[in-house]
Amino acid sequence: MKAEIEIRPMKAADLAQVLAIAETLPEAPHWPQSAYLNAINSQIGPTSTPRRIALVVAGSQAGSVLGFAVASLLPPQAELETIAVAAENQGQGLGQLFFRALAAELKAAGANELLLEVRASNRPARAFYRALGFVQIGLRTSYYADPIEDAVLMSLQLAERLS
Ligand SMILES: CC(C)(COP(=O)(O)OP(=O)(O)OC[C@H]1O[C@@H](n2cnc3c(N)ncnc32)[C@H](O)[C@@H]1OP(=O)(O)O)[C@@H](O)C(=O)NCCC(=O)NCCS
Repeated sequence: MKAEIEIRPMKAADLAQVLAIAETLPEAPHWPQSAYLNAINSQIGPTSTPRRIALVVAGSQAGSVLGFAVASLLPPQAELETIAVAAENQGQGLGQLFFRALAAELKAAGANELLLEVRASNRPARAFYRALGFVQIGLRTSYYADPIEDAVLMSLQLAERLS
């Protein structure tokens, strides 16, 4: 699997698959297509603030998207806004591989700290983030709606982790 994958910037042509993957994952944020388009467009020039980096991990079959991630960038900080791997491709190290590529890009763009929020009940994602080196730095009570739930705030020092 890993030998056959490609990690590359998200394109408009990927969006049908990106939305389809998000649709099947209740834990993933459910953004409208316009939000992904904004993220794609903000990669093109340095004028939009904060700039975003949106990546997909694609399989060997032409155009097949296996996962995606979007981060916003306001150096020296960045925020991981979403990361998802299609259910049938989870648990094979793809998320970790994909995340490392994203983190390297963020670091190269001037970020030294990566922040995120995750639903307290999303134990697989919290374990995933811990495995990547994130530490909990706070809790936002009743931050999420539908259902109401706390957000766990996590941080990763990119400089220490990736140098
Ligand atoms: C979170 C997510 C991106 C992880 O992707 P993945 O490709 O399955 O993760 P990996 O296989 O690279 O796992 C890397 C490490 O994370 C941890 N991990 C991953 N999934 C886990 C799970 N379900 N339970 C416990 N630990 C887990 C493990 O330590 C794992 O290392 P190991 O396999 O050597 O034990 C994926 O589960 C996903 O898309 N979830 C739904 C969307 C979501 O919740 N996104 C986060 C909020 S935006």
